[in-house]
Amino acid sequence: MARIVLPAEPITDGVTALRPWRDSDVPAIAAACQDPEIGIWTRVPSPYGENDARAYLMQRYDAIHAGLSAPFAIVEPGDGALLGSVALMRPAWEHQRAEVGYWLAARARGQGHATRAVQLICDWGFSVLRLERIELLAATGNAPSQRVAERAGFVREGVLRSYIRNGEVRHDMVAFGLLAQERG
Ligand SMILES: CC(C)(COP(=O)(O)OP(=O)(O)OC[C@H]1O[C@@H](n2cnc3c(N)ncnc32)[C@H](O)[C@@H]1OP(=O)(O)O)[C@@H](O)C(=O)NCCC(=O)NCCS
Repeated sequence: MARIVLPAEPITDGVTALRPWRDSDVPAIAAACQDPEIGIWTRVPSPYGENDARAYLMQRYDAIHAGLSAPFAIVEPGDGALLGSVALMRPAWEHQRAEVGYWLAARARGQGHATRAVQLICDWGFSVLRLERIELLAATGNAPSQRVAERAGFVREGVLRSYIRNGEVRHDMVAFGLLAQERG
């Protein structure tokens, strides 16, 4: 298992920034997660309230400490508003591999923040966590997320049939992969 230590300073490209979550993010997380698209396409529960956000933030310390997740808030640079969430998760440390997951608040979409956030967290995961491969799974019906994967440089590798259950619905997932050497 690798030790995960989140950076003290935000990771930024000047347009989009990633920083560790803060307890004060609860209202903004809960507000963003009212958007049904987040419940449909991610593992974020639905319905979602401030208690769910509080529980998510409480368990992040254990998840980081146990080497299970590296979660970040996506924010405007300069300590600006919460735009979304991005995390490296489900690591297989012996194989130097993890998965990236993300959502954006509805008002933050259409500006490239998700693509930039995925690139920023992948570069950090390759350089700091020494990952060699990062996976991204987007449902076959989730075209915006597949476009994020492609814009971020991921290679489409196949379709995992009936891979995820979300309530009563099962999703086929497009599996994308990005290798450390491909981000150079
Ligand atoms: C998936 C999700 C994060 C994609 O958000 P998004 O805003 O489409 O993605 P980006 O932030 O990368 O923005 C890209 C869009 O902004 C446009 N854009 C505008 N300015 C841009 C810029 N400077 N750079 C890049 N893209 C820009 C792009 O053209 C693109 O639009 P298009 O897809 O219609 O062509 C969002 O739809 C979401 O949160 N969905 C619900 C949760 C979810 O599905 N999560 C993923 C689960 S796998």
